[in-house]
Amino acid sequence: MQIRYHGHSCLELKGEKTRLIIDPFITGNSHTKISVEDIRVDYIYVTHGHGDHLGDAIQIAKKNKATVIAPFELATYLSWQGVNSHPLHIGGGHDFPFGRVKAVPAFHGSSLVDAGQREIIYLGMPSGVVIQLDGKKVYHAGDTGLYGDMKLLAREGLDLALLPIGDNFTMGIEDAALAAEWVQATRTAPIHYDTFPMIKQDPHAFVKRLQGLGINGEVLPINQWISL
Ligand code: NI
Ligand code: MN
Repeated sequence: MQIRYHGHSCLELKGEKTRLIIDPFITGNSHTKISVEDIRVDYIYVTHGHGDHLGDAIQIAKKNKATVIAPFELATYLSWQGVNSHPLHIGGGHDFPFGRVKAVPAFHGSSLVDAGQREIIYLGMPSGVVIQLDGKKVYHAGDTGLYGDMKLLAREGLDLALLPIGDNFTMGIEDAALAAEWVQATRTAPIHYDTFPMIKQDPHAFVKRLQGLGINGEVLPINQWISL
């Protein structure tokens, strides 16, 4: 499997037959180097409804005839926008043709904000996700604070853990390092940092901290396919 990071929480996963994107926030993402039109995927996973995660999912799904996998309320909302969607919910997994996708808890919110109408549409629980593709397992934590049950993810045998480090809205470096210790993935990389002033963070300081704990950490390069 190959992965490609587009900044913030957006990652592409490419297997032998299947391409997938997680949290496709492209428009307005100051770190991405691709445009929405360049994306070719079969599936999209959206961890929660916030704009910096739902991103361009609707447009990408329609253009690619891709299926969006998301927590039930968000998946239902997306189906009303004319998108093929597959609802999951926390703790539940489904065997897709490419492998298993399991929604896991995230402590955060999940809503769409209509600033014009001063309305907040709540979209159920936010999620993290464990995605299996070509036999490899990736954990994308979504937006979350640290919580003790992350320890249970160690049983998954993760090849890669993607953890938010931006602080303010999610875990910061200290908590994310503890999460990395708990989930015990072969490789760990930071996400959700630097794209907005409020989540300014030094990803190299995180990796250094991981190294001090004997954890294999790395800062993912933007727009470069790397093998997993
Ligand atoms: Ni969020
Ligand atoms: Mn976010």
